[in-house]
Amino acid sequence: MAGNSVNLPHVTRRRSTLAFKFLIPFVLVLSVSVIAVTQYFQSISYFLRPLWDTPPKPFTRIPHYYAPNMSMHQLCQLHGWGILSSPRRVFDAVLFSNELDVLEIRYHELFPYVDRFVILEANATFTGIPKSLTFFENLNRFAFASSKIVYDMLPIGELDPDSRRMPFLVEAGHRRALNNLLKRSGIAVGDVLIMADADEIPSPETVQLLKWCDGIPPIMHLELKNYMYSFEFHVDQNSWRTTAHVFTERTKYQHSRQTDLMLADAGWHCSFCFREIKEFAFKMKAYSHADRVKHDIFLNPDRIQRVICNGDNIFDMLPEEYTFSDLFKKMGPIPRCVLFDVEQ
Ligand SMILES: *[C@@H]1O[C@H](CO)[C@@H](O)[C@H](O)[C@H]1NC(C)=O
Ligand SMILES: *[C@@H]1O[C@H](CO)[C@@H](O)[C@H](O)[C@H]1NC(C)=O
Repeated sequence: MAGNSVNLPHVTRRRSTLAFKFLIPFVLVLSVSVIAVTQYFQSISYFLRPLWDTPPKPFTRIPHYYAPNMSMHQLCQLHGWGILSSPRRVFDAVLFSNELDVLEIRYHELFPYVDRFVILEANATFTGIPKSLTFFENLNRFAFASSKIVYDMLPIGELDPDSRRMPFLVEAGHRRALNNLLKRSGIAVGDVLIMADADEIPSPETVQLLKWCDGIPPIMHLELKNYMYSFEFHVDQNSWRTTAHVFTERTKYQHSRQTDLMLADAGWHCSFCFREIKEFAFKMKAYSHADRVKHDIFLNPDRIQRVICNGDNIFDMLPEEYTFSDLFKKMGPIPRCVLFDVEQ
C-alpha cells in the first residue's frame, strides 16, 4: 500500500507530461483542420463530390440530324417523325434578368422562326435586390422584333430580407407571373413552347424540327453547348435545363428536370456573357448563387477582369463533377476555342 502511494505522484506527473506532449500537436492539428474545413468547406466538399454525390439519372439522347438545303420532310424522316401540313406556332418564354447582349443575339437568331417572344422582367432579383428594368430601358435595341414581343414587368413589393425562404417565394412569383403572361400572349394547345433563360439559345435547326415534325415527344430537354464569358471559352456539352413543349392546358413554366428525353446538339448556352464588369458583379451578387460570393474581393473589378480573360472560375470554385477523372480534367482555366485562335 505504502509503495503504491509513494509511486503515485511520479506516475501521474509522467502521464501528464506525456499527455501534454501529445495534446499540443493534437490541439494544433485539430484547430488547423477546423479552420481549414470552415474556410474551405465548399472546395473540400466539391473536391469530394465523387464520394458523396451521385450523378443525376442520365438522359436518353435523341440524335439530331441537320444539313443545309435538306427538305424538312427529309429531316423529320431522319428522326423517325412525320411532317405536318402546316407548321406549329412557336412561343419563346424567358425570365429576364440583365443578359442584354445575349438576348439581342437570341432574338436575331430566332426571329424568323418564332411567333411570339414572351419576356418577363421584375424590378427586384430573387434575393430582393432592387433591379432596374434593363429590357424596358433598352427597348430600342429590340425594335426589329417588336411585332413579336409580349412583355410585362413584375413589381416586387416589400420583402423581408431575413426570410431564408424569400428567394424561393420570389422565384415562384416570377413563374406564376410568366404563366399569366403566356395566357395573355395567345398561346394555344398544340403550339410549341420553349422555356429557357435568356442565355440558353436553341438553334434555328432545332426550332424548325419542333415546328414541322409530326410525332415529336410532348416534352424534350434541349442539350446545349456550354460557353463561359463569351463564345471564346467552350466548357462542355452539358447544359440541359432548356425544354421544348407541345403546349397543353397543363403546361407550366419550369426550369428543372421534367423528362428523360433530350434532343442532342440543340443550341448554345453562354453563361456570364456580358459586356461590362458591373454586369458581372451584378449577376454575381444578385442571383440564386449569391451564397458563392464569399469575400468582397470577389467583386473587385480587377479580379473580375483577370478571371474573365484567363477563363478561370468567377467564384474560385471547383467544377461540379461526379467522377475524379472529370474533376481533374476540368480543373484550371477553360481552354480557349481553337476556332478563336485561327481567326485572330
Ligand atoms: C443551298 O442552296 C442555296 C440556294 O439554292 C445555294 O446557294 C447554296 O450553295 C446551297 N448550299 C449547299 C451547302 O448546298
Ligand atoms: C417595384 O415596383 C412597384 C410598383 O411600381 C413598387 O411599389 C416597388 O416598390 C418596386 N420594388 C422595388 C424593389 O423597387
